Amino acid sequence: MPDPTVTAGPREANVVDIAEKFTHFTSHWSPKIIAQTSGWEIKLVKAHGEFAWHHHEVDEVFVVFAGELTVKLRGDSEVVLRPGQLYVVHRGVEHRPYAAAECQLILIEPPGVINTGEAGGELTAVDTWI
Ligand code: NI
Repeated sequence: MPDPTVTAGPREANVVDIAEKFTHFTSHWSPKIIAQTSGWEIKLVKAHGEFAWHHHEVDEVFVVFAGELTVKLRGDSEVVLRPGQLYVVHRGVEHRPYAAAECQLILIEPPGVINTGEAGGELTAVDTWI
């Protein structure tokens, strides 16, 4: 794993190779920040299995990079996302991401969002730069 103080940060000026960034970590449900913009953070997540039900006070954008992600929503509805597909979970909407096999996700959301939202618990991660 490279030294994050050298390879990444808010002033990162190089092209960010998303596929290459995904090789930097193996943990599931642990967002890694790859870029920061005016009001947004771009994070990579490896999803596998079922996450916790939760919601956020802000919108959360899911883009599948590889694999398949199901976003379960209350009321027995769900959306299935495949590579290149994007879905916005609006603020306040309860959701539970699920991936039967490992899925590579790009998350776009405002800075400071906690992955488990208001729910907390053992799946709560501290986002770090890669
Ligand atoms: Ni969420």
